[in-house]
Amino acid sequence: MELKGRVAVVTGGAKRVGKAVALGLAGRGAAVAITYNTSAADARSTVKELKALGVDAAAFRTDLSKNADVKKLMDSVWKTFGRLDVLVNSAANFFEAPYERLTERDWNLAMDTNAKGPFLCSWHASHLMRRNRGGKIINFADWAGIKPYKNYLPYCISKAAVIALTKALAKELAPGIQVNAIAPGPILPPDDMDKAERVRVASRVPLKRWGSAQDIVNTVLFLIEGTDYMTGSTVFVDGGRMIT
Ligand SMILES: NC(=O)c1ccc[n+]([C@@H]2O[C@H](COP(=O)([O-])OP(=O)(O)OC[C@H]3O[C@@H](n4cnc5c(N)ncnc54)[C@H](OP(=O)(O)O)[C@@H]3O)[C@@H](O)[C@H]2O)c1
Repeated sequence: MELKGRVAVVTGGAKRVGKAVALGLAGRGAAVAITYNTSAADARSTVKELKALGVDAAAFRTDLSKNADVKKLMDSVWKTFGRLDVLVNSAANFFEAPYERLTERDWNLAMDTNAKGPFLCSWHASHLMRRNRGGKIINFADWAGIKPYKNYLPYCISKAAVIALTKALAKELAPGIQVNAIAPGPILPPDDMDKAERVRVASRVPLKRWGSAQDIVNTVLFLIEGTDYMTGSTVFVDGGRMIT
């Protein structure tokens, strides 16, 4: 699918990986709607950067864990842009939850945003995509959805659910809509990760370094523009972390 003239939604597109993806899609000529939850100022400045690339852009505040918010988002996208071709489900939360202190709230927080959010977005988006006979959905999983990290049980399960969701949606939405996932390894460290920990993380990766947001952007562009013959796949962009 050529991106020029298409319309894409990128959840969590105000900053970090989501922002890089939004700019990557705009760079190929797609109009982009980004969603944010708390990062309103970042969202405003990302929209400016997107428009500077010569495409239409808008930001919508959305709590992705709530169906009413997601429905409103997709209605607004339709009203603003008049079509929808690409959905990138990048937004997620990531928090430590040691087993002995795990609560039901931790479980719900991870599952509602990271697994139910992509499902709700995909469900509403797919109905809009079908109006123009097709589209592409890209979910963000994690290599830890296959090999869970210790102390992050709700997060790891939510990312395993994203991998399963990708396969189930691919089957439901074929042949018009292709659905794939990207499972990043260490790409951008959380802001509160210290230098020693960053070095330790890199040492565990066969390629001995962190990846970059551009590695993810390149994969997103490949899944959209590089092939129309992949669906239900999860692509690991993890420097080999999964095979250790
Ligand atoms: N960074 C990495 O190295 C790495 C590694 C493995 C997997 N991944 C996956 O790749 C994706 C992007 O990574 P990232 O590090 O850029 O993500 P991130 O910074 O942790 O989160 C992206 C955005 O998700 C949004 N978000 C969280 N809860 C939300 C909710 N309930 N409703 C709406 N938005 C919500 C936040 O928006 P606001 O700021 O507006 O609140 C946040 O800016 C994520 O799915 C992540 O799990 C990343």
